[in-house]
Amino acid sequence: MISIVYILMTKILMVCLGNICRSPLAEGILKSKLSPDMFVVDSAGTSNYHIGQFPDSRSIQIAKRHTIDISNQRGRQFKISDFDTYDVIYAMDTSNYQYLKGKARTNVDQNKIKLILTEMDNMPTRDVPDPYYSGVDGFLEVFEMLDVVCDNIAAKLLSNNT
Ligand code: 4NP
Repeated sequence: MISIVYILMTKILMVCLGNICRSPLAEGILKSKLSPDMFVVDSAGTSNYHIGQFPDSRSIQIAKRHTIDISNQRGRQFKISDFDTYDVIYAMDTSNYQYLKGKARTNVDQNKIKLILTEMDNMPTRDVPDPYYSGVDGFLEVFEMLDVVCDNIAAKLLSNNT
């Protein structure tokens, strides 16, 4: 049974292509900045490539270096009912944003979808780059971008919840 407390929690979903590199990091980073009593943070991929898999070992390592444990996450694919469950759905890049926009059933669904870097002023790019084919440096760059933008997102969420 779903509790009233769960219904009242703000629920945020992070979405990338594979759900093994960027969105697991975004989930772990935002979770580390928010109380689990008030916020649910989850992640998903638009593809079915990595369902049930651990996050990429490079994402696990870079998170661990920052004392964030994402090793308990498992890849899953975005599903339409996520529009009902989540209040805000953050796409990591324009391609995944367009995919989600194409799946939205209503204006309510449409309005839940945001490109994550638009939560941040002065970002030089609109997309969190896909680090899958890059080296460890690419993962560090992704971590640093997401850490900054998640600071902003957490501050906004907390100011709305007080
Ligand atoms: P992600 O990275 O979308 O940040 O999880 C990728 C992971 C896997 C693939 C592409 C991007 N792939 O093609 O398998």
